[in-house]
Amino acid sequence: MANRLGLCAITTAGVLLLGIALGSSAGAAESDSSQAHPVPTRQSWTFAGPFGKFDPEQLQRGFKVYHDVCSNCHSLKLVAFRDLADPDGPDFSEAQVKALAATYKIEAGPNDAGQMFERPGRPSDHFPWVFANAEAAKAALGAVPPDMSLLAKARTYPRPFPLFIFDAFTQYQEQGPDYIVAILNGYTHPGDDHWNLYFPGHKIAMPRPLKDGAVQYTDGAPQTLTQYSHDVAAFLYWAAEPKLEDRKKMGFRVMVFLIVFAGLLYFTKKRIWAGVTGH
Ligand code: HEC
Repeated sequence: MANRLGLCAITTAGVLLLGIALGSSAGAAESDSSQAHPVPTRQSWTFAGPFGKFDPEQLQRGFKVYHDVCSNCHSLKLVAFRDLADPDGPDFSEAQVKALAATYKIEAGPNDAGQMFERPGRPSDHFPWVFANAEAAKAALGAVPPDMSLLAKARTYPRPFPLFIFDAFTQYQEQGPDYIVAILNGYTHPGDDHWNLYFPGHKIAMPRPLKDGAVQYTDGAPQTLTQYSHDVAAFLYWAAEPKLEDRKKMGFRVMVFLIVFAGLLYFTKKRIWAGVTGH
């Protein structure tokens, strides 16, 4: 009996590992076509792991970096100003959100004369984009800056053996923010503002957007590239997955339920088969 259980566990583990290995090598094969670039370093995040939580102060700083720097080129179309008041997110006050929204001009209309006009933003408006359309952005910058609403979830990459085995057990899901940090710190050819160690092909249309001292913080956090890049990556991860804390709480409850349920099933099975096996 115990033997059979053990065998079963080993087989399941084997099948799982094989699945992970196959999945990863398929991913690796796909990305071989782009020029070689190093795998971004794994960073430490408050929102990693099964009990991870966002740090509102970090998200507020990250928003400032987005607002002062990234928003000059990148849109954030899926986020509304009022989302910034999310208590599990940046936790800005309603008054702060209202004041912020009012600093933006939003196209509205048409009015009675059939004309479009501009009005100050309201908390329910979404972040407008500085460019009229993607063509205008491309004409100005040489490439379209991707919308940032989902960027931190959309960028991922295979990690080489044996990392991906550990990743499965440590629930590593933060490739997106790690990649953003890597890109922001990847301008390692001093004379060339368009050479990036981590961008596929190394030539990036985005000129180096951040350096030490570029953004003023009011909470005393260090005004360094390292700090900025972590803060803005955390903010973008929240933007892409605002319900992260709920998801993790639910996942934990489901695990507890499954463990209890497995125990109940075990005893039920023992009872049902008691007469048959003679135990
Ligand atoms: C001067 C305009 C400009 C600014 C400011 C800017 N970006 Fe970009 N960004 C771009 C463009 C253009 C691209 C597309 C690059 C390409 O395709 O070669 C890009 C691409 C990126 C990428 C790579 C996306 C991918 O496709 O993998 C990341 C990450 C990124 N930006 C993050 C940021 C962050 C974070 C900030 C703010 C700190 C920022 N950018 C500020 C113009 C800008």
